[in-house]
Amino acid sequence: MSAPELIWKDGKFTQTSRRDAWWLSPTAVFVGLGAFIVYATWAALQTRNYTFGPYISPFFSPELFGNSPHALFGPKPGWYPSFLPFSPAVLILWIPGLFRVTCYYYRGAYYKAFWADPPACAVSEPRMRYRGERRFPLILQNFHRYFLRLSYIVWGFLAYDAVKGFIFPDGFGIGVGSLVLVINVVLLAGYIFGCHAFRHLIGGTFDQISAHPIRQKLYQWVSFLNAAHKKWAWSSLVWVAFADIYVRLCALGVWRDWRIL
Ligand code: FES
Repeated sequence: MSAPELIWKDGKFTQTSRRDAWWLSPTAVFVGLGAFIVYATWAALQTRNYTFGPYISPFFSPELFGNSPHALFGPKPGWYPSFLPFSPAVLILWIPGLFRVTCYYYRGAYYKAFWADPPACAVSEPRMRYRGERRFPLILQNFHRYFLRLSYIVWGFLAYDAVKGFIFPDGFGIGVGSLVLVINVVLLAGYIFGCHAFRHLIGGTFDQISAHPIRQKLYQWVSFLNAAHKKWAWSSLVWVAFADIYVRLCALGVWRDWRIL
């Protein structure tokens, strides 16, 4: 049997000589990602309370079709299949969703947390054969580089939303919601501009990057963000959910958007 196919010859599931609490990290990932998936799915299927004043929830932007003033092309189109649930988020959320699902960091995290492949480094897994990501369905993870490009477009709209978050009916102002949307854009920038695939795009194709000073500088910036990719991934994930909650609770009248200026 070839070496990479047999991981644990005699071990039982979760057998390990590790003495630390190796189960802590995959359990936290399972709870954290699971909670996000449940909340994001619920929120994405809502058709109301996703905007408040100049704010729009990042789950719903860009709003292609919808009933809010942010909608780019008007209300739900007649051609939309009636058997499918509709909300503005359904049309757009698959881009950041698949971008995160195919992210190199998240793959390593949810492979461990959701199907114990392996449960943690140097801990025995429940299967004997290793198939890697060279076959269907996991070979589809290679689409990450394309979701990256689409995510930059979505990020551009979110940045535009953040700027609009300062324009109130009475003119320029700063609300807590304005800052919530700005922080969301900054954290997302740290995440997507530190992407491994982006790092390759920026400088990974050169044999000698020092011969391209501008690209080298950019490469260093991307590498700087990339070094903390996990932190950017989690902070942006938590904040994007919080931004949705903030806008939603303001729209429902539960929270008051405090005007700083
Ligand atoms: S590797 Fe994580 S976003 Fe690309």
